[in-house]
Amino acid sequence: MTSILMVCLGNICRSPLAEGILKSKLDTSFFYVDSAGTTSSHQGNPPDKRSIAIAKKNQIDISNQTSRPFIVEDFDAFDCIYVMDNSNYKNVCSLARNEEDRNKVHLILDSIYPGEQMEVPDPYYGGELGFSNVFQMLNEACFIIANNYNGKR
Ligand code: 4NP
Repeated sequence: MTSILMVCLGNICRSPLAEGILKSKLDTSFFYVDSAGTTSSHQGNPPDKRSIAIAKKNQIDISNQTSRPFIVEDFDAFDCIYVMDNSNYKNVCSLARNEEDRNKVHLILDSIYPGEQMEVPDPYYGGELGFSNVFQMLNEACFIIANNYNGKR
């Protein structure tokens, strides 16, 4: 079983979408996909209504997810950790215990634009358009990620 973790700040907007989208593109009997936030401020909460809505519009149900914080043990539990922006990258890497941990962490948009440090913008304080923009970016990134994993199986 390959395990993949999606990480953002609050685990209510971007990473729940990334989790739902990647799950929809992989055979979940071979892949475990989860998500977490670098803060615990929304722990136990469902995804933001606007993330649930844009996912639903695209036939993906993320309404049963709950926010949880990233913990150091996630480095042991997951093979690959995708973060949404450079701040998430810094926060997750600050918990890394060694090079092996650090090598598991990748900016998710590196899958589309390698080495360009492109970020999935935080849509929390914006409107609906921000959420559909985030969905499109994550859908494109997860398409590439899923194809890479499916090709290796
Ligand atoms: P996320 O978005 O990191 O994509 O889940 C945010 C959610 C909540 C907050 C900021 C960003 N907040 O400040 O509460």
